[in-house]
Amino acid sequence: MNQFYSSKRLRKQIYLIILIVLSYVFAVVWQQFQTNNSPQVATFTPVEIRASTEPIQPIPLHIELNENKVALGEKLFNDTRLSRNNSLACVSCHFFDKGGTDRVRYSIE
Ligand code: HEC
Repeated sequence: MNQFYSSKRLRKQIYLIILIVLSYVFAVVWQQFQTNNSPQVATFTPVEIRASTEPIQPIPLHIELNENKVALGEKLFNDTRLSRNNSLACVSCHFFDKGGTDRVRYSIE
């Protein structure tokens, strides 16, 4: 009697588990039909650049230029007096039309 009772009880529990699994599967399938299956279009959200404490900052899209400083920088960039024997300026090796390089394998000095 006790064995019969426990097997009946076990069967009930198995039915209950099957019922739960089936209802879960039904819910998942139902959810699939309910959701809109139209293709998602990726949208680009521009990232806001905020000042942070990071040592490397993003390059600003716009910077205020001081004309006098720009002129001075250009003068110094072309000035050979900055070299040991007055023979070289920055522009001797850094060519703007070559991306700031001289395209040589080894430095000339
Ligand atoms: C004799 C040639 C020569 C001269 C003159 C010279 N440079 Fe350079 N410069 C180089 C080379 C070569 C490198 C690359 C070094 C490396 O990557 O190891 C370099 C690298 C640099 C870099 C780093 C670039 C980067 O992308 O990392 C800066 C900035 C720079 N030079 C500025 C100057 C300035 C300013 C002057 C003038 C005061 C100057 N250079 C003069 C040869 C020269």
